[in-house]
Amino acid sequence: MKLRLDKYLADMGLGSRTEVKALVKQRRIYINGRYANKADIKVDTETDVVEFNHERIVYAPFEYWMLNKPAGVVSATCDDGSETVVDLVEGKYRKDLFPVGRLDKDTVGLLLITNDGQLAHRLLSPGHHVDKVYFARLDHAACAEDVVAFEAGLNIGDDDLTLPAQLEIPDAEHPNEVLVTLHEGRYHQVKRMWEARGNEVVYLKRLSMGPLTLDPALAEGESRRLTDEELACLL
Ligand code: URA
Repeated sequence: MKLRLDKYLADMGLGSRTEVKALVKQRRIYINGRYANKADIKVDTETDVVEFNHERIVYAPFEYWMLNKPAGVVSATCDDGSETVVDLVEGKYRKDLFPVGRLDKDTVGLLLITNDGQLAHRLLSPGHHVDKVYFARLDHAACAEDVVAFEAGLNIGDDDLTLPAQLEIPDAEHPNEVLVTLHEGRYHQVKRMWEARGNEVVYLKRLSMGPLTLDPALAEGESRRLTDEELACLL
């Protein structure tokens, strides 16, 4: 791909277009071993070697991150000054990252953050049925009738019943701790499903989204790049 040098450098996090133009003027950017004399020259992202401070700047058109979202942070790209999930991603280059789908402010767990719009569209579009698994702690115990009701579909105040969803109560000693698998994504869906059952979600964590599973080594608020294997499963 061919691209203007100032866009290349700005995309890879060296600064705004104005700031990177200044770096070019100061002769601090090298292309194939010679300093670049203009910010608007075209660079071939595959074959040209771009360097700043003797370090190669490799162009990455897409970034893919897994975040363990903490409570209290919104799933947006900008939020009137308050912190967003994208701000939590440390080490990112690109400025055009966004979360794939949303979790409520008080929900924690798996969030994919990328700038790959096509992938996001595929994961979110209803036609693709990407399963999402949530762990929920409830106000009081879930029971066998809840399992049947989740499978049958619930009236949560929308035009249609919810699609069949799977409810598991993995530990009989803690029947208020459940796993819910959804095959669709409606606003506040898990909370509204439990409300329809006369219960209340007091803690909600997303564990997986399609083939992508939250890395248990990630503490809340931490992120890491997807591995090649994880990415291969998604693409
Ligand atoms: N369901 C909810 O109720 N909230 C979320 O954040 C995700 C699913």
